[in-house]
Amino acid sequence: MIWSLFVCYFVTTIVAIEENSRSANFIIRQNKRLASQAVLKIHPSSLVSCNLACLRHSWCTSTNFKESFGENSKGSCELNKHELSTKQHDAKLTDQPGNTFAMILEVACRSYPCKNNGTCQSGFTEKGYRCLCPAGWMGTNCEDDIDECDENIHQCNKNAACNNTKGSYSCTCNTGFHGDGYNCTDKCQEIRCGTNATCTNTKVSLRCTCNTGFYGDGYNCTECYTIFDFEDHDLSNWTLTGFAFNNQPTYGDIPSAQRGGHFSNHKGDWWIGTFENRPSPSHPFRYQYDNPQGSMTSPGFSITGKFLRFLIGGGCNLSFQDLRAELIIERQVVLVQTAKRCAEDMTEKSWDVTSYVGKHAQLRLIDYSSAAWGHLNFDHFQACHKLI
Ligand SMILES: *[C@@H]1O[C@H](CO)[C@@H](O)[C@H](O)[C@H]1NC(C)=O
Ligand SMILES: *[C@@H]1O[C@H](CO)[C@@H](O)[C@H](O)[C@H]1NC(C)=O
Ligand SMILES: *[C@@H]1O[C@H](CO)[C@@H](O)[C@H](O)[C@H]1NC(C)=O
Ligand SMILES: *[C@@H]1O[C@H](CO)[C@@H](O)[C@H](O)[C@H]1NC(C)=O
Ligand SMILES: *[C@@H]1O[C@H](CO)[C@@H](O)[C@H](O)[C@H]1NC(C)=O
Ligand SMILES: *[C@@H]1O[C@H](CO)[C@@H](O)[C@H](O)[C@H]1NC(C)=O
Ligand SMILES: *[C@@H]1O[C@H](CO)[C@@H](O)[C@H](O)[C@H]1NC(C)=O
Repeated sequence: MIWSLFVCYFVTTIVAIEENSRSANFIIRQNKRLASQAVLKIHPSSLVSCNLACLRHSWCTSTNFKESFGENSKGSCELNKHELSTKQHDAKLTDQPGNTFAMILEVACRSYPCKNNGTCQSGFTEKGYRCLCPAGWMGTNCEDDIDECDENIHQCNKNAACNNTKGSYSCTCNTGFHGDGYNCTDKCQEIRCGTNATCTNTKVSLRCTCNTGFYGDGYNCTECYTIFDFEDHDLSNWTLTGFAFNNQPTYGDIPSAQRGGHFSNHKGDWWIGTFENRPSPSHPFRYQYDNPQGSMTSPGFSITGKFLRFLIGGGCNLSFQDLRAELIIERQVVLVQTAKRCAEDMTEKSWDVTSYVGKHAQLRLIDYSSAAWGHLNFDHFQACHKLI
């Protein structure tokens, strides 16, 4: 009776006492064989040694054993790997006289104790199973998420942000980089800064900046050199008249420190501000107010660039000539720039001196006003090859 062969089976318990020890019950089918699932073939002396060998390989789920009656009387044992349930394997078995099929009884795994697609292996630990967790999960039953970002076991690019998710993580390239998060390329390699400019990627923003000695927006940079920036805070070679320039240059942004809403927009530490009275860092913030008047004439310099540019502020309107900067060549005032609207912050102005290249020149700053806003701010006088 074929049918009775299917229901008639016995169970045997085998324990492999070793590191990572595993014990399991095997369902035995006589004269049956499971074909095409063998991973390893060995030659043990008995069915018990065959099944013991199976226990030593965590992937092993069943065996085919056939006793040999030859001279050395070693058996033939196939270690199988498959994912069949007990019911399924019965359907797949083929008749094979003399062969014994033995399959680990997956009792403990039947309740699906392993979460998150963990693989259950019966026969391990005192619980009767163990879970092999997929990447991203850990714990006895694979129930705990691994924080790959925190553990630093992620594959995110060094220029990407890692974000842990349940069972996995995601990577997002930082600002200034683009890509899939695993491969982030520096946008600096793709944008074209101007000649004599350098791209800097701060991870927060991307900027083209002109190299030292060059000025401009980073896309258009021109070589400039500074003629007067007052950083040596030494006016000994300048000719002063009146009182307006006696306490110059001025140290630090006094308008922003002392008069809310105003700032000087000076470069470096020192600038000319005829309202201010702070001729050294140790000097307290003081004012000389609008009243003092005077002028300040520079030592001579050669005009090399085609443009002169500078920062100018103070004053209250452009038509008011009492506050101004002048370019003097051969004792003649050839160019004039008045101060602007009623504001402290200096803005950039420039003079086209193409027709004066090679000439000897002087800069004169004038404060002939004691009216409201009757003071001049000035800084950062440069010669440039191009206008920027
Ligand atoms: C388990 O695997 C299946 C198929 O790959 C997938 O659809 C499912 O989302 C996974 N479940 C978990 C909790 O990872
Ligand atoms: C991180 O991932 C979680 C879950 O997917 C999501 O809700 C969150 O917005 C992500 N945070 C960032 C900064 O991407
Ligand atoms: C990263 O991107 C570069 C350029 O597109 C490509 O050559 C490389 O194979 C990528 N690497 C990975 C890990 O995706
Ligand atoms: C500025 O750029 C030009 C063109 O690339 C180059 O020939 C020159 O050497 C650069 N100047 C400096 C000072 O880097
Ligand atoms: C650079 O500046 C010059 C002069 O102002 C202008 O003609 C040119 O279009 C600018 N180039 C770029 C790339 O901004
Ligand atoms: C003043 O002029 C003299 C002579 O040209 C020069 O040696 C000295 O360095 C100048 N001083 C300053 C502070 O520029
Ligand atoms: C310009 O400012 C000066 C000084 O504050 C003032 O006397 C003059 O009237 C102003 N002119 C115009 C046109 O606003």
